[in-house]
Amino acid sequence: MTFDSNISVYAVFGDPVSHTLSPVMHNRAFEFTGYKGVYLAFGVKNIKNALISVRTLGIKGASITIPHKIEAMKYLDEADDIALKIGAVNTIINNGGCLKGYNSDGFGAVKALSEKTVIKGKNIAVIGAGGAARAVGFCIKKEGGKITVINRSADKGERLAGDLSADYRPLNDIGKMKYDILINTTPVGMTPHTDVMPVERRYLEKGMVVMDIVYNPLKTRLLTEAKKAGCITIDGVSMFVHQGAFQFELWTGIKAPVDVMKKAVLNAL
Ligand code: ATR
Repeated sequence: MTFDSNISVYAVFGDPVSHTLSPVMHNRAFEFTGYKGVYLAFGVKNIKNALISVRTLGIKGASITIPHKIEAMKYLDEADDIALKIGAVNTIINNGGCLKGYNSDGFGAVKALSEKTVIKGKNIAVIGAGGAARAVGFCIKKEGGKITVINRSADKGERLAGDLSADYRPLNDIGKMKYDILINTTPVGMTPHTDVMPVERRYLEKGMVVMDIVYNPLKTRLLTEAKKAGCITIDGVSMFVHQGAFQFELWTGIKAPVDVMKKAVLNAL
C-alpha cells in the first residue's frame, strides 16, 4: 500500500497500548479489502487532548481503550443510544469534525454468542459488573436474554442488575440456579494468573455455553474446564474480532473480513 496524502488515518488511544492487537487486526482488514487506511496505536494519558487532535489532524476514527472509555464521552458531540446506556465508548467516528461515540463491545459479545447459540429466552449469568459487563449486559438484554448479574461485591452488582432490570446474585450463590449461558467479564484467569477461574468447576454442566472475554491466554482455565465438562465454549478472541468488525464497517462502509481479522489476531497472540 502507498502511504500518500489521501490515506485515511485511524487510531487507538489507551494507556498502556503496547499489547493491543487492534492495529494488527485493522491494518490487515484494510490491506485485505484494499481500503486506503492506516491504523496506529497511541499511548495517551490525556484523552481530552487526544480527541482535540482527532479533530485537528482529521483522524477519521478511533478506538478508545482502558482507562479512557468513560471519560472520553465528555468530549464527544454525540453518542449512540447503547453507548449512552452503557456510559462508555470504545469507538469514535469523525464526521467532518463532529465526533460520535459508539460501544462495540456488547455487539461483539452478541455476535460471538450468536455463532454458537440462540440468546433469546436463555438464562444468562453475567459474571462481573464493570464496564465490560455493562456493555455485554445491555446488548444481551436487547436480544431478549434473561440476565442474572453475579458479582463479588454486592453494591456494584446490584447497581448493574438494577440498570438492566435483572437479578443480582453473589458469586457464592452461583450453584443455586441453572444457567444456559455463562459469561465471564472479569479479569480472573488472565495472564499471569492463569491457574484461577471465576466459578467452581462443579457448576459447569454439560450442554452449557461458556464464554470468556479474556483472550490472553486464549484457552483460559475456565474454558479448559468447561470443555472437559462437555460445555460449548467461546473464547475472548471471537468477541474482540467482532467488536473490531463493527468498527471497521462503521468507518469504511465495507463488510468486515471477519475470518481474515481473526486469523491476524490469532497469529499475533
Ligand atoms: P472492566 O471495565 O474491564 O469490566 P472493572 O470495571 O475493573 O473492569 O470491573 C472488573 C469486574 O471484575 C468487577 O465486577 C470486579 O468485581 P468487584 O465489583 O467485586 O470489584 C470483577 N473482579 C475483578 N477481580 C476479581 C476477582 N479476583 N474475583 C472476582 N471478581 C473480580
